[in-house]
Amino acid sequence: MLKVRGLEVFYGPIRAVRGIDLDIAQGEIVALIGANGAGKTTTIRAIAGLTPFRGEISYDGRPLTPNNAERNLRAGLALVPEGRGILGSMSVEDNLLMGIYCRSDQAEAMADIGRMFERFPILERRRASMASLLSGGEQQMLAIARALLSRPRVLLLDEPSLGLAPKMSDIVFGLIAELRKDGMTVLLVEQKARQTLKVADRAYLLETGRVIKSGAAAALAADSAVSEAFLGGMPGVQPGA
Ligand SMILES: Nc1ncnc2c1ncn2[C@@H]1O[C@H](COP(=O)(O)OP(=O)(O)O)[C@@H](O)[C@H]1O
Ligand SMILES: [Mg+2]
Repeated sequence: MLKVRGLEVFYGPIRAVRGIDLDIAQGEIVALIGANGAGKTTTIRAIAGLTPFRGEISYDGRPLTPNNAERNLRAGLALVPEGRGILGSMSVEDNLLMGIYCRSDQAEAMADIGRMFERFPILERRRASMASLLSGGEQQMLAIARALLSRPRVLLLDEPSLGLAPKMSDIVFGLIAELRKDGMTVLLVEQKARQTLKVADRAYLLETGRVIKSGAAAALAADSAVSEAFLGGMPGVQPGA
């Protein structure tokens, strides 16, 4: 459903992404894992249409042109950016309303907000609160709920567990697994490789802008080269956990 070939992204003279190939099939959770600076955010932003790139990105067989985020969103690609991107000085409810601005079916979209409140009762309890007053985990829920309100076909998640307490991080990974059960397609960018490889179907390991390993998530989790390169070489122990 999404196909990336020879993706390159430059920041001035710096080639942050150096020829990445990826495939995401409908209903899959595909993970991009790698250390800080590997090029994960740059890749997911290129797919969302937020950055110029070279190479090809196609979605349902049609090419996506660079820097076309609004069109990509309407086509069904919704990004939850690193750092969540919610507006802290606006209420929880107003942040959710931002999620439906691209919808033409406003009545149904309002009903979807009601469904989000059922799915995330904490957001309903805090609907009038300023979003900045929510905990980090609640803000992540809000960011995901807002993205889901565009009724995406592919959810692009950039480090959803970043900065969350372990318990909240588990809740976020559980939510991603639930979304998959509902049939959502997910591209999940994460540094927490071990937890990520448990929920993902397939994964790509990035290092300095290149894919150095890819395959079934279970196979990558068991791959000694992956654990030495990235997971710290001790199965069951996650760096920084
Ligand atoms: N706006 C920017 N300007 C210049 N260099 C950047 C910019 N954003 C990211 N980079 C560089 O691009 C590389 C990849 O960054 P990024 O995609 O954010 O990695 P990751 O998300 O895997 O941590 C890093 O070397 C980073 O320093
Ligand atoms: Mg990043």
